[in-house]
Amino acid sequence: MPKPLKERKIKMDRIIVIDYGGQYTHLIVRRIRDLGVYAEILPYDLNYNNLEDPSIKAIIFSGGPKSIYQEDSPKLDDKILNFLVKKKIPILGICYGLHLIAHFYGGVTDYHKEGEYGKAKIQIIKKTSLFKGLNDEEIVWMSHGDQVKSIPLGFEILAKTNNCPIAAFVNKNLKIYGIQFHPEVFHTQCGNKILSNFIINIANAKQEWKVENWVKTTISEIKKFVGPDNRVILGLSGGVDSSTTSILLHKAIGERLHCIFVNNGLLRKNEEIEVQQIFNEKLKYKNFHYIDAEDLFLSRIKNIEDPEEKRKIIGRTFFEVFEKKAEELSKKFPNIKYLAQGTIYPDRVESAATSNVSSRIKSHHNLMVPENLKLVILEPLKNLYKDEVRKIGVELGVPKEFIQRHPFPGPGLAIRIIGKVTKERLRILKEADKIFIDELINSNKYNDVWQAFCVFLPVKSVGVMGDARTYENICVVRAVQSRDAMTANFSKLNWDLLEKISSRIINEVKGFNRVLYDISNKPPATIEFE
Ligand code: XMP
Repeated sequence: MPKPLKERKIKMDRIIVIDYGGQYTHLIVRRIRDLGVYAEILPYDLNYNNLEDPSIKAIIFSGGPKSIYQEDSPKLDDKILNFLVKKKIPILGICYGLHLIAHFYGGVTDYHKEGEYGKAKIQIIKKTSLFKGLNDEEIVWMSHGDQVKSIPLGFEILAKTNNCPIAAFVNKNLKIYGIQFHPEVFHTQCGNKILSNFIINIANAKQEWKVENWVKTTISEIKKFVGPDNRVILGLSGGVDSSTTSILLHKAIGERLHCIFVNNGLLRKNEEIEVQQIFNEKLKYKNFHYIDAEDLFLSRIKNIEDPEEKRKIIGRTFFEVFEKKAEELSKKFPNIKYLAQGTIYPDRVESAATSNVSSRIKSHHNLMVPENLKLVILEPLKNLYKDEVRKIGVELGVPKEFIQRHPFPGPGLAIRIIGKVTKERLRILKEADKIFIDELINSNKYNDVWQAFCVFLPVKSVGVMGDARTYENICVVRAVQSRDAMTANFSKLNWDLLEKISSRIINEVKGFNRVLYDISNKPPATIEFE
């Protein structure tokens, strides 16, 4: 059996962020990658053997929602800490991470009646290497109820606020740093400077994380791992992730790549036609297979109302369709060994595939791999964020129709129709969605928003058209700004544009007589409705 690519280690200097469940853990990784250094998240209960890799240059303990004295709080494994200290690997504890370090070395952390949430002014007491280049006072982002009350032996205080006398500390001999505030949050103006001091100056990590390097190494890794004869099938949706994966694989193994595009009946209007045109006519892929599985998918989710249930059925059905096609193809090509997918980092995060402390928000369709799958999963983009994928797509020459395309979930319109999915509801939603997207394109706003779509609410309300009463469903219009879908703000679209969209939908789409604009941010809402 070939070794899955997903077990391979990235060979460049890297930083590990150990996740204690903090809401900003991903932001830490993002900021570090923006500095040109590769970073990734590992769960707090990892085995310290995983850290025995000379490419690991520093470790960050993330924040977390718990109090270290809570029984069920994630603990600091002494084997990990002892290992890191022995190897002289620099450590930075952020918020909960700072509390863990203080507690481990005999300091006291406790609840403080005046917690700090939001912006705070810190006074730098000592400008050691971590705070090099900072002003005497800086604005930082705080989010804590607990704080360190007494510092462990061998540590010295680096900063304080009016409410928090130990806002940062260091043990120079052990190369351990701790900060109470969040350098990764935008509002901490000196945050990038602190992270860069830690990663580049203290940990001496090389800035090797570059799109061009990634493309070159990944293509050669794929070549090596797939070998000279084996073939790969790819679940292609026509979105930026799977399209980029397809071009990457095509460059690596050429026509030994078989793309399978499944029409599950839950796609946007005309999408099945457009995607086929691009792959067949523009890219001229030889092994592009189109499968019309609309009836199969719609019959499987008939009468299903629960979102997770819908997602799971759709995810399983996708794998079933892929496996069936692989079996059919393998009669002619017995060397089909891999199933590639365009899974990216946030998909795995939301499905709780990267952490034991974060909760599962939703099951992403391509993470429901059946246990007895005979093919080895290949996910070359699995550690990347969407904007990184777009950069890589540009580098690879992915057609521009795909690059700026708004993300579209695998379960498609099924999770944009609240409750039961029927052909009629799909028809209504597809029409409205097309109007919304066309209007965004016409007003040059499409590329300004991260994602825009309509949602079908099966709630009827009364309207009047001409002189007649109507009693129809509600269309929700949603547009959000985001960088990587981990957080999002609703787009503040122009009123006139919204009015035009609303009036076109109500006038042109039979089935909707009311349009609502969603003004929820993520968190606490999510981008999709289900
Ligand atoms: P949420 O709704 O969790 O969505 O805020 C975050 C981003 O992920 C997309 N999404 C999915 N993408 N399979 C995917 O490939 C899925 O099952 C899935 N569910 C959500 C969503 O459209 C948004 O961009």
